[in-house]
Amino acid sequence: MSNATSYDEAYGSCLRDPAAWWAEAAEGIAWTKRWDRAFDASLGAYGQWFAGGELNTCYNALDRHVEAGRGDQPALIWDSPMTGRLDVLTYTQMRDRTAKVAGALAKLGVVRGDRVIIYMPMVPEAAIAMLACARLGAIHSVVFGGFAAAELATRIADAKPKVIVSASCGLEPGRIVKYKPLLDGAIEMSPHKPDACLILQREQSPADLTPGRDHDLLEAEAAALPHGCVPVLATDPLYILYTSGTTGRPKGVVRDNGGHAVALWNSMKMLYGCDTGDTYWAASDVGWVVGHSYIVYAPLLRGCTSIMYEGKPVGTPDAGAFWRVCAQHKVKVLFTAPTAMRAIKQQDPNGKLSANYDLSGLEALYLAGERCDPPTAVWAAEMLQKPVVDHWWQTETGWAITSGFRQFGLFPFKPGSGGRPSPGYDLHALDDDGVVLPRGATGNLSLKLPLPPACGPTLWQNDEGYRSSYLADFPGWYRTGDAGMIDEDGDVWVMGRTDDIINVAGHRLSTGSMEEVLASHHDVAECAVIGAKDELKGQTPVGLVVLKSGVNRPDIDITTELVALVRERIGPVASFRDARVVTRLPKTRSGKILRATIRKIADGETVPVPPTIEDPATLDEIGKVFRG
Ligand code: COA
Ligand code: AMP
Repeated sequence: MSNATSYDEAYGSCLRDPAAWWAEAAEGIAWTKRWDRAFDASLGAYGQWFAGGELNTCYNALDRHVEAGRGDQPALIWDSPMTGRLDVLTYTQMRDRTAKVAGALAKLGVVRGDRVIIYMPMVPEAAIAMLACARLGAIHSVVFGGFAAAELATRIADAKPKVIVSASCGLEPGRIVKYKPLLDGAIEMSPHKPDACLILQREQSPADLTPGRDHDLLEAEAAALPHGCVPVLATDPLYILYTSGTTGRPKGVVRDNGGHAVALWNSMKMLYGCDTGDTYWAASDVGWVVGHSYIVYAPLLRGCTSIMYEGKPVGTPDAGAFWRVCAQHKVKVLFTAPTAMRAIKQQDPNGKLSANYDLSGLEALYLAGERCDPPTAVWAAEMLQKPVVDHWWQTETGWAITSGFRQFGLFPFKPGSGGRPSPGYDLHALDDDGVVLPRGATGNLSLKLPLPPACGPTLWQNDEGYRSSYLADFPGWYRTGDAGMIDEDGDVWVMGRTDDIINVAGHRLSTGSMEEVLASHHDVAECAVIGAKDELKGQTPVGLVVLKSGVNRPDIDITTELVALVRERIGPVASFRDARVVTRLPKTRSGKILRATIRKIADGETVPVPPTIEDPATLDEIGKVFRG
């Protein structure tokens, strides 16, 4: 019920009758066939939303606004300090380009239910390709550009795309990232091969196209006939987004069409206070869930103008870049990662650069990706003189589990807290036996089923994997994998993961996958990777390796090779720059590596000797490694 006047009213009524609440919110979406049941508990891993309903997400994001007379309003503003370009695409232009790219994909044989991988930098064609898939009822899977060929190959092998849409290159400060060799390498590594690739040729570094397989994207778009919107079931997948799990194998989080459109449309106003015609900027990347939800789908579903920024918070050209963009495009709400704020704070601690811009139109700053450390939250709030809202979510949920809600008035500012549960999320902290803990006690943050619309209903072709990853530990609950507590006021404090996932500069990474890479080095007997505290990035990975007996090459040669290996196999985004050789790793008597203990030592915490440790002397060596 998006018309509630207070948070308590909205949250309470949604808890009492979720199906009725979300059915009311669903009136904001255009359906080609109304749903039979707002929630059907008998479907999928825990039930599905809007069963029997039919719609097209692209129609709701583009065509509908043109038909309502808003065709001349900018839909997407591409602001690229990396190229010096600024392109404004109206809703009509976006619809027309998307219809033609859909036509080009259809000509290559893509039909409803087929997968299309999108491996692209921050260019409008990335959003257009996503929406073109949605238009056809095809399922897109966007892969972040900072991943290496091997990571792309894993996703190609799992999603089995008919077509891959990519670009000749991405642009990072000081270097051109040539995508084509990475793409070719990935296709070679993958047992599944796409029928065709559509390549955006960028003038900074055009690529050689493979005859018979590759086509120039813009030429294909120009030659194509516009394709209409194909209605799909609300429960059909819209996209797969691979995210780090605890093992080296990424999880393919599935998002449906109907629930996704409803919850994201609703979230724009309820959380961010943005409505049709407002300008909204999520300074993230389309390769991450924040980019899917808040660069592309939610703002467009709501008829807002969305900013797509190809640049960095600092260095393109300076730490005033975000404020320049906000002022120039009259951004009402900015959403970014705390690491971006820390980068700006480092270079412009007194916020002098922000004073150069008229930020009167900016109403709030939202942060997510990791917990925002209180000093950074306070700094941003004082510098901007605007509300700062930390909100907590995951790839799996697709929108915020906890937040502040501008529609109802924000809660009092509590730096370090992630706000209160969004309507639809019945959140509690549980002990390890699944018992609900009282307010103030820290435990496993878990959501009572069912999850609200837009939360991933399953993993790609892996219901069992979904159940065992999220539902098995606490029957009737979804385990978020985060630890935290709910205080007396109902504010939620998320304190960190309970598994081997780390967050590096807002990028979610698996230490397990880095360990797999280190362990594959011929000189390494065993290893551990932990996420150590980092001033700028929140966490950075540190690898500890034990060498095989008889290896007597200099440590520095081996650690340099290890750093290069992680970059080659996982990608630069892993930020893996620190590997150290030790003689032994601290372990329990049953042989489990004490990673949490190592992490605490790396962070300079005083650590009691764990009672289960096999040899306490191993901790002394780790202490020396980190403290010199
Ligand atoms: N394609 C190719 N390479 C990429 C990339 C991409 N899309 N994104 C990042 N990389 C590379 C970077 O160039 C860097 O390479 P390097 O090792 O050669 O320097 C490496 O991956 C690490 O990148 P990053 O961790 O982003 O560090 P940085 O030093 O380049 O920038 C910040 C630091 C804080 C400015 C930057 O991390 C940032 O803006 N973070 C915000 C993250 C975000 O939006 N997260 C989404 C969740 S809301
Ligand atoms: P991702 O799937 O990449 O969005 O990462 C999700 C994880 O990032 C969560 O499980 C949390 O560990 C962390 N996270 C994201 N946002 C926040 C936040 N606002 N506060 C605390 N942790 C966060």
